[in-house]
Amino acid sequence: MAPEFDPTAENQRIYRDALGCFATGITIVTAPTPTGPIGMTANSFSSISLDPPLVLWSPAKKSQRYPLFAGADRFAIHVLRADQKDLALEFARRGDAFDQVAWHTNALNVPLIDDCLARFDCQTHAIHDGGDHAIIVGHVVHVTLNDGAPLVFAQRSYGNFQQIS
Ligand SMILES: Cc1cc2nc3c(=O)[nH]c(=O)nc-3n(C[C@H](O)[C@H](O)[C@H](O)COP(=O)(O)O)c2cc1C
Repeated sequence: MAPEFDPTAENQRIYRDALGCFATGITIVTAPTPTGPIGMTANSFSSISLDPPLVLWSPAKKSQRYPLFAGADRFAIHVLRADQKDLALEFARRGDAFDQVAWHTNALNVPLIDDCLARFDCQTHAIHDGGDHAIIVGHVVHVTLNDGAPLVFAQRSYGNFQQIS
């Protein structure tokens, strides 16, 4: 019998298993802070609106990096290519993993990773409450799009996107 349950604090592991059935890409979100650049691996990225161009991502409020992202008025979302899993692991481990990658800052001091599949440069549009996470909405002001295949995350594993006919 397939498990069925109402989500509670006690069955969070299997609740996360169910959520992990929804495959996503992987991004690294970066922002300028008073103490230097910060980054975080995130798969909570989603497009919201095309006109105006709005996107969102959700940082955990308990993350040490949360106040830095919540305090940033600009940020960039980098969609990773299939060969960038190691970078995802680095920025999951630590927010200052910029020594692992070529990067520069734009005119507004936002740290930008040089090489990725797509990049969305955002102004912080709104920050909404989302339980133990916040929902940061970004107004996309600039986009960079490169060739390549996306890194995919599902069921706690990294993989490639495979087209079916
Ligand atoms: C594939 C993947 C996706 C993640 N997505 C998110 C996310 O959307 N939001 C979030 O707050 N943390 C996410 N994380 C966790 C953060 O990258 C990071 O590990 C966490 O913030 C570490 O806590 P710290 O900031 O206190 O060091 C993700 C981690 C991985 C490996």
